[in-house]
Amino acid sequence: MSKWTATKIKGMKGQQKIACLTAYDYTMARLVDQAGIQLILVGDSLAMTMLGYATTLPVTMEEMLHHTRAVVRGVREALVVADMPFMSYHVSPSQAVKNAGLFIKSAGADAVKVEGGAFRVPTIRALVRNGIPVLGHIGLTPQSIRSMGGYKVQGRKPDDALRLIEDAVALEKAGVFAIVLECLPKALGKDITKAVGVPTIGIGAGAGCDGQILVIHDMLGLQVEEAPKLTFVKRYANLGATTSQALKKYRREVEKGIFPANVHSF
Ligand code: KIV
Repeated sequence: MSKWTATKIKGMKGQQKIACLTAYDYTMARLVDQAGIQLILVGDSLAMTMLGYATTLPVTMEEMLHHTRAVVRGVREALVVADMPFMSYHVSPSQAVKNAGLFIKSAGADAVKVEGGAFRVPTIRALVRNGIPVLGHIGLTPQSIRSMGGYKVQGRKPDDALRLIEDAVALEKAGVFAIVLECLPKALGKDITKAVGVPTIGIGAGAGCDGQILVIHDMLGLQVEEAPKLTFVKRYANLGATTSQALKKYRREVEKGIFPANVHSF
């Protein structure tokens, strides 16, 4: 296979469902890419999964660039999308172009993601005009968690649902190549998918979307503490528990002199 581009991802609508995941480092990006996942998002969720913050808000451009570079080094085929962190594109379209340019030019990303609906159109237009492919993101937008008042399903009321459909159409007109739909009733995920000509990538937005994305730590069960159960996550492995067992076994074997054995010695 050759390298995935934003144009190719856009062309997948109605042809084949798109499998997307987050990744934040070289090793995981290598594994995700080798599995044939078409789009890798260096999500600002790395604020929590990699850096131990409580929300995505504190993560900086420098931290996002650092992780994006590591992912790019591990990827041969997938499209690498860098998530623009909170306040790196909110001030003005020119601030957005400058910071998105760093992801493309200095970190090697193929595209960027920004959160927000119709009000974000001037920013998206400026990015697209400057040759930067943009992935939109509407529904639950974690960078607005302070004003949204919690991680809740969006678009349950008819007015909110209508506004989200209008947001998706506005984003498409502004030139995004695809749109992430986060935490929406499945019927609304399907309605938005029908209303736009670009692919929708759902996370908790039902099977009617053109593709799906999950946070890799959630789907691999790579948690340090018992994580709250997220209804929309399917757990494909239990790596947190497996890792913990391996580490405890190693500690016991070192303490008892079982490791290293002769075969591990020169
Ligand atoms: O940061 C992230 O991981 C995301 C996905 C949840 C879409 O934005």
